[in-house]
Amino acid sequence: MKLLMVCLGNICRSPLAEGIIRTKLPENFTVDSAGTISLHEGEQPDKRGLQIAKTHGIDISGQRSRPITKRDLMEFDRIYCMDLQVYEDVVSMAKDEEQRKKISLFLESAGETGDHIEVFDPYWSEMDEWEKVYQILDQACSAIAEKLTTRSS
Ligand code: 4NP
Repeated sequence: MKLLMVCLGNICRSPLAEGIIRTKLPENFTVDSAGTISLHEGEQPDKRGLQIAKTHGIDISGQRSRPITKRDLMEFDRIYCMDLQVYEDVVSMAKDEEQRKKISLFLESAGETGDHIEVFDPYWSEMDEWEKVYQILDQACSAIAEKLTTRSS
């Protein structure tokens, strides 16, 4: 099964989500991430993301930002969006219902509801906020990984 994590710039949230969920899934899962904008294309994850990941024993330094493409909507089985704007932008790229069904809000897929369905963007934040984002992503990745590995779908 192929999973794609998507945020705006693909340098803060989705690279962390990619790195974290990879540690929670067996090797037959493919995980990648992308952004809805190409501003940071080719760049490593944000330094603060590299650092917070390292603090938790995860190396995401090999990742490079890339924009999401229409091909991704064909090739990936599940596409997880970090916030509502990203979700709307990715849904607008879907060419049919089959593709639309693959796209979800990351935190909703992890079982969150109400006011907690968006992963806030730590781009303009200090390190303590990055730790909060890490914890949000880590918990949600555990929930999603468990769902995906205990269900046949
Ligand atoms: P991300 O964070 O979507 O979690 O990667 C951002 C990265 C870059 C920008 C905004 C958010 N930016 O405006 O360049």
